[in-house]
Amino acid sequence: MNIGKIISAKRKELGITQQVLADRLHVSFQAISKWENGISYPDIETLPLIASALNISIESLLGYPTRSLTEYDNHYAGKEYYWGLEPNKLCYEIMQRKPPVKPHKVLDIGCGEGKDAVFLAKNGYDVTAFDVSDTGIQKAKALAEIHGVTVDFFKADIKDFRIEADYDIIFSSGVFHYIPHNLRQSVIDNLKAHTKIGGLNVINVFVGKSFYSICS
Ligand SMILES: C[S@@+](CC[C@H](N)C(=O)[O-])C[C@H]1O[C@@H](n2cnc3c(N)ncnc32)[C@H](O)[C@@H]1O
Repeated sequence: MNIGKIISAKRKELGITQQVLADRLHVSFQAISKWENGISYPDIETLPLIASALNISIESLLGYPTRSLTEYDNHYAGKEYYWGLEPNKLCYEIMQRKPPVKPHKVLDIGCGEGKDAVFLAKNGYDVTAFDVSDTGIQKAKALAEIHGVTVDFFKADIKDFRIEADYDIIFSSGVFHYIPHNLRQSVIDNLKAHTKIGGLNVINVFVGKSFYSICS
């Protein structure tokens, strides 16, 4: 797909007119129309602005398939489970705060090799989980099979994937720092909009500053 078609498709997905997009980018709506019809191309300096306005990565805007993070694909290539098989402690906190008295819907973002998603599924949650690493997803599916549980695992990139279903619990451990600053708000807005009333957002992030635990 060329860049004009991608702009057109993403703009329509967001339900905004050419004029609205033009206003956000400080260009004329004729410019947008020309890009979308392949008559001209946006300047290279405009690409980050367009990507941000359309909630996608520059890679996706240019029509490149989303790259896997080679770093993690390499880590996950071995037979062993790189992060081990012990669930994250936060999974126990989820169980305390929102016990599986019914199959609450859980989304695990950046699920890696699936240890947390499989643990929650084994404990009665209805789990959907994705990661940008193909290798991670393959191993996660294998883990679910070993444990005889069903988890909806799929490959997706948080930078351009927006959820449509509603969840009781949205969980993510060690992933959000990969979201570029200009996309963070739209990712958070999307997650908030799809968290059920009374639901939980359980996000564990790496930060580049001192961290103090607050006890209450
Ligand atoms: C520190 S690991 C944590 C894995 C898992 N949550 C766990 O705790 O075992 C970070 C994970 O984020 C995934 N990741 C990185 N960037 C991502 C993106 N843009 N979209 C989805 N997953 C991503 C990596 O492939 C990796 O599996």
